[in-house]
Amino acid sequence: MNRPRLTTRHLLGIDSLDRADIPLVFSLANRFRSRPAPDLLSNRTIVNLFVEDSTRTRNSFHLAATRLGASVLNVAGGGSSLSKGESLVDTVRVLESISIDGLVLRHSSPGAPELIARCCDVTVLNAGDGRRGHPTQALLDAFTLYRLWGEKLERFETKRIGIVGDIKHGRVAFSNIRLLRMLGAEVTLCGPPTLMPRGIEEMGVTVIRDFDDLLADADAVIMLRMQHERQTGAYVPTLAEYRRYWGLSIDRLRRVGRLDDLPVLHPGPVNRGVEIDPEVADSARSMILEQVSNGLHVRMALLALLFAEYHESDQLTLESDG
Ligand code: NCD
Repeated sequence: MNRPRLTTRHLLGIDSLDRADIPLVFSLANRFRSRPAPDLLSNRTIVNLFVEDSTRTRNSFHLAATRLGASVLNVAGGGSSLSKGESLVDTVRVLESISIDGLVLRHSSPGAPELIARCCDVTVLNAGDGRRGHPTQALLDAFTLYRLWGEKLERFETKRIGIVGDIKHGRVAFSNIRLLRMLGAEVTLCGPPTLMPRGIEEMGVTVIRDFDDLLADADAVIMLRMQHERQTGAYVPTLAEYRRYWGLSIDRLRRVGRLDDLPVLHPGPVNRGVEIDPEVADSARSMILEQVSNGLHVRMALLALLFAEYHESDQLTLESDG
C-alpha cells in the first residue's frame, strides 16, 4: 500500500524537511489527536539518548513511541558510559549492536545529530543540539498555530509572528525562524541587543527595538526563556531590567491594546516573572500547555512517518491541505 513517508531519512533540523512534509506531519498529528493510534511501531526499538536536561521533550518522545507500540530505551548522559569517557559515536554503536531503529538525541554540542547520522546507521531525530536547533519544538509550535488558524497552512502566508528574548542561545528561535519562513510567515525578532546574533536578518527576519511595536502588529508571539545555563557573560544588567524591556506582562498587553486577542506561546520551561509574568502564562490566551499536548501528537506523527510499517487495516488515510 501507499505508505506516507517524510522526504528525509533523519530529522536533523528543519532544513532536513521539504515544504511538502509539513502537511503530512500536521494531518497525521491531527489524526492522532482525535483517535487512538494503532500499534504502528510494534517491531521497533527507539532510544531516547538525552545528554542534556529535559522534562517535556524526553517524556513527550517516550510517550509518543510507546503510544505507537514501540519498545523504548531511555539513556541519560550521566549514568551511562558517556560519563566514563566513551565517545558519543561509540555509545551509539553499542546501542546499534542491540538492534535499534531510531535514536532521539539531545546533546549540548551543536551538530551532534549530524555526526551520528554520518558515522552510524541508525535514523536520528534531533531533540535539541546546543544552541543550534530544535526542530520538533518548531513543528509543534507551528502545529499549535495551524490549529488556532483553522488548519489551513496557507494562512501562515498572511501572518506576522514575533519571537522575543534570548535569540542568541535559543535553538527554538532558529528552528522556528526556518520553519515559519518556509511556511511564508513574516517573522519579527526583539530582544536585548547583546542576545541578538549579528546578521540574523539574513534568515529573512526583521529585528525591531521596541517590544510594544512588535506586540501591536503581531498575530502571535513566541516568548523565549533566558538561557542562563548557556550564557557565559552578563548579557543584561539585571533580570529586573530584562523584565522591564522584554518581559510580557498584563500591563504591557493592555497598554498596546492586545490583552484579549494575542496568542502567546512559550516552549517552556518558563522563568515566571522574567520573560513572562505568571498572569500572562496562566491567561486564556496562553498556549503553553496546548503546545505540550500538541507536541505529543506531532512526535507521534514524526515517528510514524519515519518508522512505521503500515497494514491495510490501519486506515491511515491522510487528508492534506497542501
Ligand atoms: C527548550 C529547549 O530545551 O530547547 N525547551 C523545550 O524543549 N521545551 C527551550 C528552553 O530550554 O528554553
